[in-house]
Amino acid sequence: MKPLTFLPSLFTLLFILVSLHLSPSWAASDSVYDTFLQCLSRRSQPSDHISDIIYSPANSSFANVLTSYLRNRRFNSSSTPKPLVIVTPKQESHVQAAILCSKDLGVHLKIRSGGHDYEGMSYVSVDAFFILDMFNLRSIDVDIQKETAWVQAGATLGELYYGIWKKSKVHGFPAGVCTVLGIGGHLSGGGYGNMLRKYGLSADNVLDAKIVDVQGRILDRKAMGEDLFWAILGGGGASFGVILAYQIKLVPVPEKVTVFRVERTLDQNATDLVYKWQSVAPSTDSGLFMRLSLLPTSSQTQKGQLTIGASLVALYLGNSDQLLAITDKEFPEIGLRKENCTEISWIESVLWWIGFDNGTFPAPETLLSRDYPAIFFKRKSDYVQTPIAKANLEWLWKKMIEVEKVGLSLNPYGGRMSEIPASATPFPHRAGNLFKIQYFIDWKEEDPEAGKKYLAQISRLYSYMTPFVSKNPRSAFLNYRDLDIGATTNGNNSYEEGRVYGVKYFNDNFERLVKVKTAVDPNNFFRNEQSIPTLPK
Ligand SMILES: Cc1cc2nc3c(=O)[nH]c(=O)nc-3n(C[C@H](O)[C@H](O)[C@H](O)COP(=O)(O)OP(=O)(O)OC[C@H]3O[C@@H](n4cnc5c(N)ncnc54)[C@H](O)[C@@H]3O)c2cc1C
Ligand SMILES: *[C@@H]1O[C@H](CO)[C@@H](O)[C@H](O)[C@H]1NC(C)=O
Ligand SMILES: *[C@@H]1O[C@H](CO)[C@@H](O)[C@H](O)[C@H]1NC(C)=O
Ligand SMILES: *[C@@H]1O[C@H](CO)[C@@H](O)[C@H](O)[C@H]1NC(C)=O
Ligand SMILES: *[C@@H]1O[C@H](CO)[C@@H](O)[C@H](O)[C@H]1NC(C)=O
Ligand SMILES: *[C@@H]1O[C@H](CO)[C@@H](O)[C@H](O)[C@H]1NC(C)=O
Ligand SMILES: *[C@@H]1O[C@H](CO)[C@@H](O)[C@H](O)[C@H]1NC(C)=O
Repeated sequence: MKPLTFLPSLFTLLFILVSLHLSPSWAASDSVYDTFLQCLSRRSQPSDHISDIIYSPANSSFANVLTSYLRNRRFNSSSTPKPLVIVTPKQESHVQAAILCSKDLGVHLKIRSGGHDYEGMSYVSVDAFFILDMFNLRSIDVDIQKETAWVQAGATLGELYYGIWKKSKVHGFPAGVCTVLGIGGHLSGGGYGNMLRKYGLSADNVLDAKIVDVQGRILDRKAMGEDLFWAILGGGGASFGVILAYQIKLVPVPEKVTVFRVERTLDQNATDLVYKWQSVAPSTDSGLFMRLSLLPTSSQTQKGQLTIGASLVALYLGNSDQLLAITDKEFPEIGLRKENCTEISWIESVLWWIGFDNGTFPAPETLLSRDYPAIFFKRKSDYVQTPIAKANLEWLWKKMIEVEKVGLSLNPYGGRMSEIPASATPFPHRAGNLFKIQYFIDWKEEDPEAGKKYLAQISRLYSYMTPFVSKNPRSAFLNYRDLDIGATTNGNNSYEEGRVYGVKYFNDNFERLVKVKTAVDPNNFFRNEQSIPTLPK
């Protein structure tokens, strides 16, 4: 069957059932389940107990499996399309079978590792679909002698950080701050965290990978070739195959690192701090990462008024004396003193960054928890290449206060990020970028009208920012998935549609990604609403 195009899901479902010569009935998805199960059974050993790893909506644990790795409540409503089946492979051969059987049935396959996709792209689709859920494939094999590790796609960052810490107190890995992120999505989308100025992205520290391609073959770096290997270091795995594991290079971390936090509001000269931050944070010592978050907040001095709260949160890969030597010289505006600095081990800094910042650290085993409270949220991204003038910052504060609930999180680049050429990986946002902005808004109201209001707020602030951010294209970060910047229905115009968001995420690397895609998956089996298209026929 040819790849399905953009059709309402019920229609698609009927279409599949007709093609399978089944009669549509309320047991509809059970029939798909049966066919899929038979196919998987044919392709596996009886000892695999394949029925234990596939869930149809009729299984009592279906809803639980579906929402265990659902992080954005926007995609947990009764109107959100649900998968026909969820497959939870326990070994690599199950992944191979799931791909081949989805292909046989002509059903769209969504791949999920940690489920953190901002737009729910790993578990929602307008087409009828299956979910291949990788959470059982989570082994981590750290080789301290070689300073490398193999990590399976379904492992979380917390499990990886913990696994490294068990073997060495002076090694780490540069990846995201949120420890519940999945390796599969995070690394294939680039992945960054608070060591990016020293060591670059997660994807910059990958040595090898294992992927299952559209023919069901397991390929390592040598077998897949350098083009495909390049593509899955920031181009998003889901356009190319199912990533089973990455081999990563560990990085050295000092026995003691230093963290600190500085908070200011407008009447405490926050504007001066933000203005100065724009030139210091991207150019200072690469061991110093200072994230700056800006959020409208209640004023302490003027009752009932909003001000802007600026919160600087930092990691320094060294001790506090070394840090103060830098900040005293380059950033006296923050008034940092020794008593404001906390010297801790690297693994404690991981805990500090996820919120254990009151002086007592739980055991590192805390990082093995996969619990994460799902909330309603929306994120967007931008890149800033020239500092925003003070007068413009002051204008921006007014707009943020007017919009009310949207925050900006500014992440400085520079350091190692500027040394790596823009074409080294699909992720192009290197030299020339001072910082990335993440727009954020979270809410609790179930009411869809409230949701619409908040989505409109974030779009408004994004539009106010137009003069200050990158242009032609207005760039965006793939891991901060944003469907507002373009989408494809994977029909006949997929290349033109794909170019719209593709050049924003990948700039000049987009065309190379299209070439790789066309070579490895010409029939576009691995696709989603923002996947890499094939070349037009
Ligand atoms: C709370 C929170 C904090 C975050 N913090 C950071 C951060 O500090 N730094 C950062 O860079 N990003 C951050 N992100 C974004 C995050 O990196 C991306 O959402 C990332 O894609 C998550 O990976 P995942 O496996 O958890 O997601 P999933 O939703 O499972 O997958 C994301 C995408 O990757 C595809 N995919 C997943 N697994 C595979 C696989 N095995 N093979 C092929 N394709 C696959 C999916 O189909 C989907 O398209 C954060 C997100 C959240 C929600
Ligand atoms: C789902 O339900 C079917 C039918 O009751 C059962 O055979 C199968 O084992 C269940 N699957 C799981 C993973 O529980
Ligand atoms: C999703 O919705 C269901 C039904 O309302 C609810 O039971 C479940 O807790 C929700 N899960 C998440 C992660 O929000
Ligand atoms: C703000 O700046 C003024 C003028 O430079 C200075 O006198 C004052 O101490 C600063 N306030 C803070 C909280 O840094
Ligand atoms: C540093 O600590 C001192 C003493 O506790 C405090 O008064 C000051 O506000 C702190 N400065 C910062 C930048 O947090
Ligand atoms: C720090 O926070 C933890 C977890 O929230 C809490 O259990 C602990 O009591 C707190 N410790 C202090 C000193 O406040
Ligand atoms: C796509 O193009 C083919 C060949 O030109 C045509 O037959 C088909 O109808 C088109 N599909 C859509 C959805 O427009």
